[in-house]
Amino acid sequence: MEFVTYEAKDRVGVITINREKALNALNSQVLDELSEALDGVDLNEIRCLILTGAGEKSFVAGADIGEMSGLTKAEGEAFGKKGNDLFRRIETFPVPVIAAINGFALGGGCEIAMSCDIRICSANAMFGQPEVGLGITPGFGGTQRLTRLVGAGMAKQMIYTARNIKAEEALRIGLVNEIVNAVTDENGNETVSAKDNLMASALKMAGTIAKNAPIAVRNCKKAINEGLEAGMDEAVVIEEKLFGDCFETEDQRAGMGNFLKKKDDPTKVKIVDFINK
Ligand code: CAA
Repeated sequence: MEFVTYEAKDRVGVITINREKALNALNSQVLDELSEALDGVDLNEIRCLILTGAGEKSFVAGADIGEMSGLTKAEGEAFGKKGNDLFRRIETFPVPVIAAINGFALGGGCEIAMSCDIRICSANAMFGQPEVGLGITPGFGGTQRLTRLVGAGMAKQMIYTARNIKAEEALRIGLVNEIVNAVTDENGNETVSAKDNLMASALKMAGTIAKNAPIAVRNCKKAINEGLEAGMDEAVVIEEKLFGDCFETEDQRAGMGNFLKKKDDPTKVKIVDFINK
């Protein structure tokens, strides 16, 4: 792949969009390669994914404006569908996906981050849906996911004004979970860059998720996502079924078995070994 890299280590997969010259803008090739990267994730091994952008400056600066500039109505719709299909796949991917947002997350960049389960960002991150300034609507789910994440009033304000917001404001409105800063020593000298610390934080969070029972984590993701789209009566039934689905699995037997054993019992199972039904 030319613009996307995938690395897997310690049950965590890292997908990096690597088109730094165009600030990691999403053209059709990048979208295809992201899809290919997801095809390559070994779900027997991987418990959590991290999605990030190459370079210090930008996570993803949007869909590729050059590619979009000459599209017909039908081609525009097809390009929107291409992005939406991929982002929906990320959103419903069996294992959690953490967006590690370093710099610009504009338009399609904000939208791909919102299709992830969790967003953490560096202090230089900038979010926005600038599409109306380009004569289009957000096209990769922005009108829908921003509204669901931050509420209709704030989403409408951001989308209608096309105003970009900084990391602090994104945190305040609930668009990101956490801002990660550079690490400095007592003299104020930077010892770990914001970008490195962001990845370290994302890997730490992914590692924590990866240590938990995988069937349970996957079922939690499904329950939350599917429940959000249902009324409460239906939503609690979705949860009941996924809760029930955990029982009689190795994960549940060993997880509860561990709890019921004495602290120093050598027959305790390492939870990281849980995997199969
Ligand atoms: N598409 C294509 N190329 C892009 C791009 C994009 N979305 N964003 C940046 N680039 C390219 C620039 O054209 C430039 O290329 P050249 O060096 O070949 O000229 C390179 O990346 C560096 O960009 P800048 O020189 O502009 O960098 P800057 O630091 O001065 O500005 C920026 C950074 C504010 C992010 C600015 O690049 C910018 O405004 N980018 C566009 C942001 C945007 O509007 N995104 C939304 C796109 S529409 C969309 O995403 C629709 C959808 O919902 C599906």
